[in-house]
Amino acid sequence: METHEMDVLSDSKQEILGNRTGIMTNPELSIEMIEGAKQTVPSSQGDATEMAAVKAEYIEEAVPIGSSPVMVEVSENGESVGQFDGLAVLLDKLGERLAFERQGTRLYEAFLQKCESLTLEDASGPSVEELRHICEEELEHFHLLQNAITALGGDATVQTPSADVAGVLSHGVMQVVSDPRTTIPQTLQAMLTAELVDNDGWQMLQDLAAELGQDDLEEQCRKAYEEEQEHLEKVRDWLTSMTMDEASGSTEGLDAEIDASEEEEDIRSAKASTRSRKSKSSGSSKSKSKKKKKR
Ligand SMILES: [Fe+2]
Ligand SMILES: [Fe+2]
Repeated sequence: METHEMDVLSDSKQEILGNRTGIMTNPELSIEMIEGAKQTVPSSQGDATEMAAVKAEYIEEAVPIGSSPVMVEVSENGESVGQFDGLAVLLDKLGERLAFERQGTRLYEAFLQKCESLTLEDASGPSVEELRHICEEELEHFHLLQNAITALGGDATVQTPSADVAGVLSHGVMQVVSDPRTTIPQTLQAMLTAELVDNDGWQMLQDLAAELGQDDLEEQCRKAYEEEQEHLEKVRDWLTSMTMDEASGSTEGLDAEIDASEEEEDIRSAKASTRSRKSKSSGSSKSKSKKKKKR
């Protein structure tokens, strides 16, 4: 093995062996570090007030993130009677859910791959079949939204402003799920974040469809929302069970260690008392023999 490879292995082993991120790892060096930081001169002029002023300029001058799809309301004789703002809002939010369901499908695909690769047998965690079922429902929801946008006269390939924001928001979740180092509970924590947002999103979409008199869409959203509630419950249950199992497992381990050390202590005491009895008895027999000799 190359020296460099060995160094990397030894470094990663070191990382696994102990968490050295806390300041109390070395209190003496920590004091030196704090002293050093106090003596360090800031590399630029100004303070937080000036930074806030610069940020304020950017906020004032910023242009919006994209623009909503414009829906023009047309009269019976085909003349334009103005913009239909309600529908534009609905299309924006449909675009948001579409982006989220696309990402949701990819999240579950990545989660599935992790579970299949690890081949873990944990009764309290998700099975591959259960994850595949949820993944399929996410994809169904994506197609539902595609069709709904088209039926309303919109373009499902448009990235709406809310879709753009939703895409940025879910980046962190995808990073956690696709990271090979994250455990199943850590991945479930990320999925819980996604499912909580998704549940609220579908509820809002159902309410919005109802508000705008889109009865068919409201019904479709209601069904999707019910399925999303099941996803949320399952993810929450798996995460809770696995976390509790981990906690109770470590407690059992600790109990076992305590039991073992108590057992060892008992054995040591028993051996010591046996030795003591033997030495006393041999001591007395020796003295007896000496006494005998004396006689
Ligand atoms: Fe979803
Ligand atoms: Fe979901």
